Amino acid sequence: MGWCIIATWKFSLAGITAAAKLVGEGGSSLDAVEMVARYVEDDPSVESVGYGAIPNVDGEIELDAAIMEGDTLSIGAVMCVKGYRNPVSIARRVLEDTPHNILVGRGAEDFAARKGFEKTMLLNCQSIEKWLEKKAEAGERLKKGLDYKVPMGHDTVGIVSLDTLGKMASATSTSGTGMKLGGRVGDSPLVGSGFYVDSYVGGAAATGVGEDIMRCCTCFYAVELMREGYSPGEAAELAVKKTHKRLLEKRGRVGNIAIVCADNKGNFGGACNHQGFEYAAASHNCPPRVYMVTPIDG
Ligand code: GLY
Repeated sequence: MGWCIIATWKFSLAGITAAAKLVGEGGSSLDAVEMVARYVEDDPSVESVGYGAIPNVDGEIELDAAIMEGDTLSIGAVMCVKGYRNPVSIARRVLEDTPHNILVGRGAEDFAARKGFEKTMLLNCQSIEKWLEKKAEAGERLKKGLDYKVPMGHDTVGIVSLDTLGKMASATSTSGTGMKLGGRVGDSPLVGSGFYVDSYVGGAAATGVGEDIMRCCTCFYAVELMREGYSPGEAAELAVKKTHKRLLEKRGRVGNIAIVCADNKGNFGGACNHQGFEYAAASHNCPPRVYMVTPIDG
């Protein structure tokens, strides 16, 4: 039986390499996608996920994460979580230990504490420096939440995996856009927008401007395209194209959007509407490596 694992951005390569070994040796997709997200959450050089991320406008790091299991469509997601380094693992506990799909803010933090997660400092010198820099740039306007401009892009980690038993899973983790308003949630923990997976078909995970991705439920759409017979690469491209076109038509502008897709045979692909998007992937017949994606014709 084939297997694969794919994740957004080059910064996922270390996690993909470790998770490829896990899943290649018979480990589960759910463990594999959680493992990749945790690698990135723990990496202080990644400014958009987990520890050391760029804080919100109030100088706090608020994290969102989700995990989905493709056999049963079980979901666990947490939003606006402060003080916990690995929100993807809290999301997994929501999936496995509760009858709910989503916990938010204080409720998610209390749940994490009850589950034995250790509270920790997420800010480091680098994130504080970035915050001071951005705050100075934005001045009083941003501080007051007035005339808030959504940035053009955001580098979320989004992962899809197929294991040797044919089970699929997906996960995301993000700190959201730097200098976001407190309480803001993007696409990443929203099922169908930032992620979706169905083991009968395949899965998708997104990165980019959450406000735009959620307007078109881009990941659900990509999975439905695979259900209709499109390959992961074709589904990714069509889903990004449709999202891009619809937003330009209706709003006159669109932010950076990219998705990765994998199907239930171990094929994978990605698409984006901007320069510079890369993903990391591995499968039963491809060793772990980074792939550069050519943007769609806008
Ligand atoms: N795509 C991540 C976010 O907008 O929060």
